[in-house]
Amino acid sequence: MALNSYAAFVFFYTGIFAKANQVTYFMAGLYIHIPFCRQACHYCDFHFSINLDTKSKLVDALIREMELHKNYLGEEKIETIYFGGGTPSLLDENELEAIFDQIYKQFNISKTAEITLEANPDDLTPAKITTLLKLSVNRLSIGIQSFFDKDLQWMNRAHNSSQALQAVSAAQEAGFNNISIDLIYGLPEGTAMAWDENIDKALSLGVQHISCYCLTVEPRTALAHFIATKKIKPADEETAAIQFEKLMQRMLESGWHQYEISNFACDEKHISRHNAAYWQGEKYLGTGPAAHSYNGTTRQWNVSNNQQYIRSIASGVVPFEMELLTATQRINEKIMTQLRTSWGLNLTQFESSVTEKIIKSSTPFIKDEYVKLQHHVLMLTQRGKLIADRIILELMLEEGA
Ligand SMILES: C[S@@+](CC[C@H](N)C(=O)[O-])C[C@H]1O[C@@H](n2cnc3c(N)ncnc32)[C@H](O)[C@@H]1O
Ligand code: SF4
Repeated sequence: MALNSYAAFVFFYTGIFAKANQVTYFMAGLYIHIPFCRQACHYCDFHFSINLDTKSKLVDALIREMELHKNYLGEEKIETIYFGGGTPSLLDENELEAIFDQIYKQFNISKTAEITLEANPDDLTPAKITTLLKLSVNRLSIGIQSFFDKDLQWMNRAHNSSQALQAVSAAQEAGFNNISIDLIYGLPEGTAMAWDENIDKALSLGVQHISCYCLTVEPRTALAHFIATKKIKPADEETAAIQFEKLMQRMLESGWHQYEISNFACDEKHISRHNAAYWQGEKYLGTGPAAHSYNGTTRQWNVSNNQQYIRSIASGVVPFEMELLTATQRINEKIMTQLRTSWGLNLTQFESSVTEKIIKSSTPFIKDEYVKLQHHVLMLTQRGKLIADRIILELMLEEGA
């Protein structure tokens, strides 16, 4: 059983924020992928390189791609900008400044845009924090993963726990008031007790948003190799499930909103607008190697290779592949994304034949109280969240059926 996998969450980024199943405002999103990291975390299969020699060439290419793709979103106003990675906090002041100049030159950016940058604690020096604030980054997503040094070493993170605490307090003191942190549970050696301590520590920091992902073993990672060669025992699923249940319970008791399976906000104002956005299927442009874009009818993804990306952009061509989404794929994406949210899957958006099929396959889950149906909206119950991936698979439509 894959608990609330990060991969499932990440695949579905885009742009609109819905409240209580009613769309409150439309927006488009801009995603910028920074494909570099200081060192490779054992579990990670995101696109990144630890060879930083091409960083400045890649930034030049990224800037050029924004010009080549400036019409992708049409006249749509960009309400959210998200620097993800890889490690965007590896960019220096000049690189960040050049990217921001180009963003404002090529796109129509809302004055109230949410601008998020993923940062690793070891990069968040006072000087870097000042630069980010100066460049109007107004939301930091800090990859802490665990407050235990033993876990961080096991993950091969480049930071330790005290650097993580220092990074959060330095960002807060400098004026960041929208900070998210990432944690990972379901570690092979992890105990329920240690996870409780991680939750307590996270809640004590005064941050506004916490994302908690269950560790997934991705093919071709060091972690997958260690498990295959029996150097590491795979995680115990029961412990991971207990950790997830504990997480939901503690966050609820503390008054936090679990607005998506892996995402918690201290109040409604601090829900990630960028991530919540995608779930209603609005447009977004992804720039940089491996970035995905969606325009309502097609999805496209840039080549996951830094050298090829740089070479192709230099010749004036954005290197991407594209797929035209079928009606069934579009419905399935809605099922996959919206059912994971606290707003649920509103069945009135579908034709009646589709609604009937979804209701039919959800009936056993409704009977067993994994899912509830209220006013045409399907929602996961607390126990349903434990088997979300399984429920979603069962509800998805078959092509041509
Ligand atoms: C891809 S990283 C990018 C941000 C930044 N480099 C960092 O490490 O914090 C975003 C988040 O993905 C999560 N993540 C990546 N691979 C994962 C995996 N295999 N299982 C669970 N979470 C994962 C981590 O929590 C990480 O903070
Ligand atoms: S988790 Fe973050 S820092 Fe680690 S390899 Fe992946 S992208 Fe890089």
